[in-house]
Amino acid sequence: MGYLIGIDVGTSGTKTLIIDERGKILATVTEEYPLYSPKPLWSEQNPADRWRATVTSVKKVIKKAKVNGKEVKGIGLSGQMHGLVCLDARNRVLRPAILWNDQRTGEECEEITEKVGKKKLLRLVCNPALTGFTAPKILWVRKHEPRVYDRTKKILLPKDYIRFMLTGEYATEVSDASGMLLLDIRKRKWCDELLRILDIDKSLLPTCYESPEVTGKTKPDVSEQLGIPAGTPVVGGGGDQAAGAVGNGIVKTGIISATLGTSGVVFAFADRVETDPLGRVHTFCHAVPNKWHIMGVMLSAGGSFQWWRNNLGQLEVEKARKRGVDPYDLLCKEAEKAEAGCEGLIFLPYLTGERTPHANPNARGGWIGLTARHTKAHMIRSVLEGITYGMRDSLEIIKEMGVKVKQIRVSGGGARSKFWRQIQADVYRQAVCTINATEGPAFGVALLAGVGTGVFGSVEEACEATIKVTSTTKPIPRNMRVYEKFYPIYRRLYQSLKEDFDIITAAVG
Ligand code: XUL
Repeated sequence: MGYLIGIDVGTSGTKTLIIDERGKILATVTEEYPLYSPKPLWSEQNPADRWRATVTSVKKVIKKAKVNGKEVKGIGLSGQMHGLVCLDARNRVLRPAILWNDQRTGEECEEITEKVGKKKLLRLVCNPALTGFTAPKILWVRKHEPRVYDRTKKILLPKDYIRFMLTGEYATEVSDASGMLLLDIRKRKWCDELLRILDIDKSLLPTCYESPEVTGKTKPDVSEQLGIPAGTPVVGGGGDQAAGAVGNGIVKTGIISATLGTSGVVFAFADRVETDPLGRVHTFCHAVPNKWHIMGVMLSAGGSFQWWRNNLGQLEVEKARKRGVDPYDLLCKEAEKAEAGCEGLIFLPYLTGERTPHANPNARGGWIGLTARHTKAHMIRSVLEGITYGMRDSLEIIKEMGVKVKQIRVSGGGARSKFWRQIQADVYRQAVCTINATEGPAFGVALLAGVGTGVFGSVEEACEATIKVTSTTKPIPRNMRVYEKFYPIYRRLYQSLKEDFDIITAAVG
């Protein structure tokens, strides 16, 4: 029996899993690493921490699965998207990696939009310049750290630095490259015209492959360290969202996913390139060759709930520790005491600015509608409802673009709770399903490794063979009616407060 390894270089840690050739998950291991915010709006990490986590997790996962590492046939890589890793001529990391949720590049986004033109940018790379994307980060380094920029010889995305360490190759693949804002999404190749306008040397960029293609083989010394055969093929893999979509079986028209992790993502498969003229959702290449996807990304979805747990959920965290249960389960239990709509208490989940639909780094979170009758239960429930309203914003835009939504598959931490799944069905006005595979991106890229090494005939075949729907939650009409009253109010609140967010940001300085 051969085995396939999927490595997901996430924001809080690296998750590695191992599957057999039938797609059965044998073991998973997560190794955490820190995230640094040296200044407001900044978000950074050390690529060396991610590499250490990769080595440890691969070794541990082989041991945990009790398999012979020498039978590993292929590796797939997934990772947090958009991050910037700069290497010098001797492949040394020049500065901490700048992350997807870093918001420092407002000015660079304006500069790109001005230089290229809004319409032309949409035509060239199908997306607007957003603070999270990689190109504005490159311009930021050039402007603020010219010595670093001058010494930079290669620019890599988070998972592609891991690929470099494994194989010695500078390579990426189309789904993650799409989020750099430098890829011609239609042609699935670097966009020469944009590189010229922005004066970015193409030689800085890695070679771009399709996601299941083999991009290199593991180096002998690294293979020995990991206990796998020298020359193990490493396939392109995918940005975490496209990889997660493969892991959720979002590989044909009509099936979309709603994933609630730190970020919140609504992801739709697309047979051809469709763009939102307002640029509110992203159009990227899919990890399925010659297919695309449309997605809306909220920055603080599960992140808002995590913020509550960390700052206001001490009681539940403590209780959970004593009982050996998950604090989120206790928080959901408390929230269940409040009724749908929370008697008009509405939470805005813009704790780290927002991307879809508002693309505004200055957006802020908060509660509106608080009265003396409201309790902690209402406050927690309103956080879950506010996040879900934000997800519906993306869903609505995707529907507006003419995408048919036959089935919504929910995943991520937010899909674990039956209670939150019900809120999702009620707010989305459509049944939501869970599937048997819950490991998302790491599973998706293990399947891609199987496609690249001939274990499966195609991505679609790999998904068909391994992914099944396990539960369906239907909307409750009474709750749907309540949310139909409050969702439009939620939408208005951002518009009413938009200017105040700018004033607050300026006042903070
Ligand atoms: C996608 C995005 C996030 C990160 C981190 O565009 O920014 O989902 O990839 O998960």
